[in-house]
Amino acid sequence: MKLVLASRNRHKMLELRSFLQDLPVEVVSVDDVAPGLTLVEDGSTFVENALKKARTVFAHTKIPSLADDSGLEVFFLNARPGVISARYAGDGAGDEANNKKLLREMRGVAARRRHAQFCAVLALVGPGYEEIAVGTCPGTLTESSRGTNGFGYDPIFQPEGFSRTYAELSQDEKNRISHRARAFAALRDILKRRLT
Ligand code: IMP
Repeated sequence: MKLVLASRNRHKMLELRSFLQDLPVEVVSVDDVAPGLTLVEDGSTFVENALKKARTVFAHTKIPSLADDSGLEVFFLNARPGVISARYAGDGAGDEANNKKLLREMRGVAARRRHAQFCAVLALVGPGYEEIAVGTCPGTLTESSRGTNGFGYDPIFQPEGFSRTYAELSQDEKNRISHRARAFAALRDILKRRLT
């Protein structure tokens, strides 16, 4: 089965190939089959964004297409930053500015009200079907940055059951519990079903 990844992020491509390596799936990039195609992320939910991108690529290529969207939801902030996680402090502001803004907004908020979750959504669109795989990782927002591994909000998110942040976990440890790993596990089940 051939699958187009509706993303230009090389890291995501490698990650997807590695997660699916034992399945008879060939993953190609959107740039291989539809160079220049615009992928828009303007939805108000992760599902909306992922579905929109996968539908766009499938409409152009007629090859089963996979797209993702992910982010951090802080319950005290009504699930913000959510779909604007990448640009919370403004377009091009970067991880450090995003983390600072979030910590500032949460300053003085008691530990019991600092619940948050990471969420990853994968949308698979093919001939006559649309499937969604979701993975979440519950945890809490810390009061300051800790750790240097990973990216994004990793230094200020402590997953449930751990006393370390995502950024203090090794890549292997994070891959065992992360929202993305859980979404990939759900996707694998979907693909296995579709392959039989
Ligand atoms: P996207 O899914 O590539 O659009 O990523 C959205 C944003 O969510 C990223 O830029 C990060 O700010 C945040 N994010 C998603 N997954 C993670 C993660 O595993 N660790 C830290 N931040 C993440």
